[in-house]
Amino acid sequence: MKINNPTGLLITLEGGEGGGKTTQIVRLRDKLTAIGKDVVALREPGGTTVSEQIREVVLSAKNAGMAYTTEVLLFQAARAQIYREIVLPSLAAGKVVLMDRSRDSSVVYQGIVRGFGRELIDQLNDISTKQTVPDVTLLLDVPVMTGLARVADAGNNNRMEMQGTDFHDKVREAYLQLAKGDTSGRWQVIDASKSVDEVEAAIWQATQNIFPSAQTVG
Ligand code: TYD
Repeated sequence: MKINNPTGLLITLEGGEGGGKTTQIVRLRDKLTAIGKDVVALREPGGTTVSEQIREVVLSAKNAGMAYTTEVLLFQAARAQIYREIVLPSLAAGKVVLMDRSRDSSVVYQGIVRGFGRELIDQLNDISTKQTVPDVTLLLDVPVMTGLARVADAGNNNRMEMQGTDFHDKVREAYLQLAKGDTSGRWQVIDASKSVDEVEAAIWQATQNIFPSAQTVG
């Protein structure tokens, strides 16, 4: 496996709604900590004081009238801040950085589904992240109806989750295409329709290449 970040390691969790990224990132963090890794777990949009305020604006159901261009730039603004404040310094310090969403969310949601195009979003992502690409990207893939049912059970739908089923179908398809078309080997597709424990085990398995010592922890 090619390592993109020579000092630390950047692992992103990606996917549509209800794939369980938030639960799994906590479990992965705890297991990596248990084998002695210095781990930082973050979410996008958010993770810093500035980025959490941007999150509030970009995801609030109150802002149904937000222009797509505004949405594109707000996600990038939140990203620029978290990379400068936390991600890049943590990688430079040799840490393992786990992220609940990052640049690929913008490629899928804004680039492909909203239609801004891959090229523009890649350029913006490169500015926001100072050209940082994850070492590993775990795609938690779940059928749309299963994912939306999980989100509905959790309550509190945000502005993105309120989009129609068609939108979410496109999101799922775009992620699968992105993973399929990638030649870097960083994408791992995980069947997230399974139980939380099974998904946790599949994620652990998928990180074996970079954490061989992971084998020793149950
Ligand atoms: P969040 O509540 O964090 O949802 P999830 O648990 O699905 O991650 O909401 C984040 C939403 O923002 C989600 O619908 C995806 C969307 N998003 C984008 O459209 N572009 C982006 O660049 C990012 C980071 C998120």
